[in-house]
Amino acid sequence: MPLTPLKATFLLALHATMTFTSPVPNPRPNPLSIPPLIPTIPGITDPLASLAPPIPILKVPTPPIKSPPFTASSLKPKKIGYFWTGPGNQAYADFLAVYSLDDDTFGTFITLVDVPTSGNEPHHLNVARDKKSLVGTGLLSLLKTQDVEYFFDITDPYRPKFRNSGRALLSSIGDEIVAKPDGGFFITHMGSAAGTNLGRLTEWDNSGNLIAEFPSLLDLAGTVNILKDQFTPHGLSADFNKNILLTSDFVVPLSTLKPTLGIQKANTLRLWNYSSRTIISTITIPNGGGIQDVKFIPGNKDSAAIATAVELGQVWVIYPFQYNSDGTQGVAKLLYDLGPKAKGVVAIYTDLSADGKFVYLSLTTANHVAALDISNLEHPVRLDDPDEVQPIIGPHSLRVTPDQKNLVALGYFVQQGDIGVLNTPGDYKVHYIDILPNGALSFNRTIPFQTEFANRGGARPHFSVIADLTDPTNPKFNSY
Ligand SMILES: *[C@@H]1O[C@H](CO)[C@@H](O)[C@H](O)[C@H]1NC(C)=O
Ligand SMILES: *[C@@H]1O[C@H](CO)[C@@H](O)[C@H](O)[C@H]1NC(C)=O
Repeated sequence: MPLTPLKATFLLALHATMTFTSPVPNPRPNPLSIPPLIPTIPGITDPLASLAPPIPILKVPTPPIKSPPFTASSLKPKKIGYFWTGPGNQAYADFLAVYSLDDDTFGTFITLVDVPTSGNEPHHLNVARDKKSLVGTGLLSLLKTQDVEYFFDITDPYRPKFRNSGRALLSSIGDEIVAKPDGGFFITHMGSAAGTNLGRLTEWDNSGNLIAEFPSLLDLAGTVNILKDQFTPHGLSADFNKNILLTSDFVVPLSTLKPTLGIQKANTLRLWNYSSRTIISTITIPNGGGIQDVKFIPGNKDSAAIATAVELGQVWVIYPFQYNSDGTQGVAKLLYDLGPKAKGVVAIYTDLSADGKFVYLSLTTANHVAALDISNLEHPVRLDDPDEVQPIIGPHSLRVTPDQKNLVALGYFVQQGDIGVLNTPGDYKVHYIDILPNGALSFNRTIPFQTEFANRGGARPHFSVIADLTDPTNPKFNSY
């Protein structure tokens, strides 16, 4: 990747900023939090400030325009969707929208809440184990030098409130989120604080404070491991009972921004010891070309996980407790080749049914959602017709609903605009797809964000969290 003078200045400035902040993990509120500006360091930030406007990939951190006035609904649907969304006109604030998913009021807007920043490219979203907070990540928050993690209070599920935001010190480019059993979250950061190779696995407490980033700077073996093979973790899954985590390496974020010689894709996953937060081994999918996603299969007796190799258009199974002939822990085996239309589709994200029988896969630039019956990992059965033209454009995020009756697929992945090479077409719709008794999909209802939010140039919903409040004493959320 060519390092232009402007990019070099950006990197230098960020590294300089980092050397003035403590790299030692600490549980205090992040000193770099909102307001979203690089702290002033005489002699170091001054040249950055004077350079900021002309740098193509660094944007001026202007405050956002608030969402236009709206009327919240007093409806209290049993099933609701939270959608972490960027506005079409990125001068407006990024926001969390709430919609009814009940049959009789489907698609009714309930409310929305702005975050205090714009241009984050809202990315993944998930819910804490206590069901009282959500966190959303920003893919490109670093371009405006603002916070990456946005925390919401959903104590009143129908009236989420923005609570606080944070960022890590060594890493940026927020991606996948897994709730910790004891509260808080693990979140993958695909890049360094400057968006280059060497991301981190970050850990957050229930109040939204950064606990640490892994491998830590003091973890010599971990540092050696990530220097050996590209470490750009995107996918993340946990089997807390078996004391292991898996992360999957996707692409170097800065290599998706112009100028670029091409996107740098990884072929690896890392197997982690959960209790020590250290890397046990690197698992390779040969020529995988970006391992976007990994998820443990619920209930699998071998703790097997599925992983997606994007360039190959293939699904692999990871057996974390099997050993390779060279003695390394964690074996990768091909599960299913999704065929010619699935090769190089930029993104393949997944979700699984709670019983681990079905896996759904979004093939973004193929405009297709595939379904496999994986009850028998030796004989996966494809449930969709690969040649069917489906009524969806650019699917990415997938969520099986808590009652297992629907799949929520969002028709938007990433559009970096002029600054980058990742611009996948989308229909900007929430697709509420019926899951048939055999696990296959039937497209049915949608919520069109382009028209719903026409007053700010449309909207791009990247990720959802689904709540089922049928039993108010025991609210249920998506299982992953
Ligand atoms: C994981 O780390 C813990 C704590 O350091 C250690 O006791 C345990 O043996 C490790 N497990 C594995 C599988 O490496
Ligand atoms: C769409 O879903 C509704 C509500 O479940 C159902 O009544 C209707 O039959 C479905 N339509 C199609 C075409 O599947």
